[in-house]
Amino acid sequence: MHTPKQKTKPAKIGVVLTDPEDWTTQTFLENIEKRGAKPVPLNLSTLSASVSTTDFSIFSADLRDVELDAIIVRDVGISLSLEQISFKFDLLRQFETSMPVMNSSAAIQNSANKFFSFYLFKRAHLPIPRTTITPELDVALKAIETFECVIAKPIFGSQGEGILKFESSQPDLEPKLTALLKERGVLYLQQFVPNPGRDIRVFVVGEEAIGAIYRVSVGGSFISNLSQGGTPVACEVTEEMQELAVRATKAVGADFAGVDLIEGEEGLFVLEVNATPSGKGINRACGIDVTERIVDLLFERLD
Ligand SMILES: Nc1ncnc2c1ncn2[C@@H]1O[C@H](COP(=O)(O)OP(=O)(O)O)[C@@H](O)[C@H]1O
Ligand SMILES: [Mg+2]
Repeated sequence: MHTPKQKTKPAKIGVVLTDPEDWTTQTFLENIEKRGAKPVPLNLSTLSASVSTTDFSIFSADLRDVELDAIIVRDVGISLSLEQISFKFDLLRQFETSMPVMNSSAAIQNSANKFFSFYLFKRAHLPIPRTTITPELDVALKAIETFECVIAKPIFGSQGEGILKFESSQPDLEPKLTALLKERGVLYLQQFVPNPGRDIRVFVVGEEAIGAIYRVSVGGSFISNLSQGGTPVACEVTEEMQELAVRATKAVGADFAGVDLIEGEEGLFVLEVNATPSGKGINRACGIDVTERIVDLLFERLD
């Protein structure tokens, strides 16, 4: 165990959060405290900045300056506007100039973006399902004809929300796609990977896959997210899982991640990297505390 450099003044570690009751949030705070440091809960929606020619400060609602040695991001949260989300990430970018921030704003943004992350995965030679992103109905119809069975996802979606399935043979395909295009402005269409009714969530911290769970979908659903009723079941990390998950995490520039893999007939595909993953499911299924390992990694950086 490492101890903070100055014993008289414990390191202050900001934990970016939105829900103080969340399991992952709480265990981050507890593990920081166990290391003899001071955890500082930080909701980015409540921070202000003051800038002048000579001064710069970030302060909280009680007008106290935010002074930290490092930051762990649990959850940036939803935002009301483009300006608000941008301000939150710019606060993080600003913190990054003077302290370790895990995960970085760039890693979180890369991961949250299902188009740009796929571009990064392709560049890293990772196996991914064929995907077409288009604002054009004709291009969308052509992609579905080629892929035969397609999953449509929001580019910035999470927790299995807004995911739909289309078959090239379904008679109402064109009106359904037209309506979806009107709603989303752009369609993200991915070839459906036939699978055993589950996906795999591998947890990576640093260069290591520290554990994994199957998420088994229920009631014939094709979505296995825990927030959609999926059940976490312990999964042994194979060499293939370890290798793909670590490479995918690196591709987006994350220090830790939950990497979603799906078992295709010819091997594993990467579905996404989540750079603000919940640690609750794997704790329940395997007894592994991912937050402890993440906090350890942060202290290695601080030393
Ligand atoms: N191409 C695909 N083929 C088969 N199932 C998929 C595919 N893409 C997603 N799924 C299912 O939908 C779930 C959610 O997809 P994912 O890309 O991880 O988005 P989210 O960010 O909403 O979790 C996956 O965990 C998996 O169960
Ligand atoms: Mg997912």
